[in-house]
Amino acid sequence: MTIPSHTTVAVVGGGPAGLLLARLLHRAGVDCVVLESRDRGYVEQRQRAGILEQGTVDALRDCGAAGRLDREGLVHDGVELRWGRRGHRIDFPSLTGGRRVWVYAQTEVVKDLIALQLADGAPLLFEAEVSAVTGADTGRPVVHYTHEGVARTLDCAYVVGCDGFHGVVRKAIPEGALRTCERVYPYSWFGILADAPPACDELVYAHSPRGFALHSMRSPSVSRLYLQVPNGTDPAAWSDERIWDELEERFAVDGPWRLNRGPITQRAVLPLRSHVTEPMRWGRIFLAGDAAHIVPPTGAKGLNLAAADVVVLARAFTDWAATGTTAALDAYSDTCLRRVWRAEHFSWFMTTTMHTAPDQNPFDTKLQLAQLDRIATSPHAAAELAENYAGLPVA
Ligand code: FAD
Ligand code: DHB
Repeated sequence: MTIPSHTTVAVVGGGPAGLLLARLLHRAGVDCVVLESRDRGYVEQRQRAGILEQGTVDALRDCGAAGRLDREGLVHDGVELRWGRRGHRIDFPSLTGGRRVWVYAQTEVVKDLIALQLADGAPLLFEAEVSAVTGADTGRPVVHYTHEGVARTLDCAYVVGCDGFHGVVRKAIPEGALRTCERVYPYSWFGILADAPPACDELVYAHSPRGFALHSMRSPSVSRLYLQVPNGTDPAAWSDERIWDELEERFAVDGPWRLNRGPITQRAVLPLRSHVTEPMRWGRIFLAGDAAHIVPPTGAKGLNLAAADVVVLARAFTDWAATGTTAALDAYSDTCLRRVWRAEHFSWFMTTTMHTAPDQNPFDTKLQLAQLDRIATSPHAAAELAENYAGLPVA
């Protein structure tokens, strides 16, 4: 492949945000190049999110990237909230006017988008690590990167930082131009993948005196499970038996319900954080996805927010390319931040309602249980949760 030295939109990062943006831009006839620091195998295997909202699925369908998702994705019409040894199901379609979610792993979304892009899309360079962006306050920004050991530059009209929370594009913006808000939580998630059939057909979010646990899945034969653990937990220090025993305790109900145990094939500990950078634009730089905002995973919003950002941004670039007007680009940050803050609130709410803080007292626990009881007994409270979980329409 010839390595391009100029393009219209330079996309930094080939995670879900960068790849979906590139697909949408390519379909709209807007030139772009994606620079991804890791190799293809690494990006395709990185275990992360698993739930796609209706709006994310619609976006993937609209750009021809949902063939396998429509064949293999598991449609879910509800989740179970479990506390006090009892479960309560939240039904999405009846509470949201027909919305639902799909269980389809981020790894699979990324594989599908990469395959399409390499087949007929915009240039996508792996092992292309961006070190700096210069000239973003002029008409012609330049992206500096190293590809296979060679230092290169990419001239462009706009740069989009889709390079995640630890990326470099946000750092190219002068500190005084951005505001950040952050909350770090006093617990982490211990996530495992196991070759074991899921114990039930839907996700279970469990509040228990021993802490939070989540039952999810990747396929009819693979379970994805999470345990709340203290920050700094070493995943290697837990035996498989200890993990299964702890999961059993936290999911315990009165009546028959058993987890299916099986070989644990992956394990990792993930700290929980909320973080928003505002505005999501400076000069000719735009930020999208985790580069601009992080949510704790309890609401399953991270990947979906990333997708919603780039849908808005792709429309704005398409409008600019067609008409030369920058109104939609100028509105990008405000448009996205409304949705981002809604998702930040929901993710914080789900996290603080379901987890047990290290300094939690009985009063705090009673408040959590009162809130869960409210969700179980009021269709309005249940609908509020369902609308947020299944996802609000993309602006
Ligand atoms: P990313 O997926 O982070 O992609 C950024 C890309 O940029 C990466 O491929 C990276 O290699 C590349 N990059 C970084 N720096 C450079 C550079 N200098 N030059 C070039 N490329 C660069 N969300 C949930 O909803 N549920 C979950 O269970 C869940 N689990 C998670 C587990 C982990 C460990 C993490 C980090 C996140 C998790 N999330 C989860 C959040 C969700 O996965 C993210 O919100 C989603 O990946 C955001 O996509 P993105 O494309 O914005 O960023
Ligand atoms: C999964 C991850 C989440 O953060 C969540 O809220 C639901 C499901 C998952 O990995 O399947």
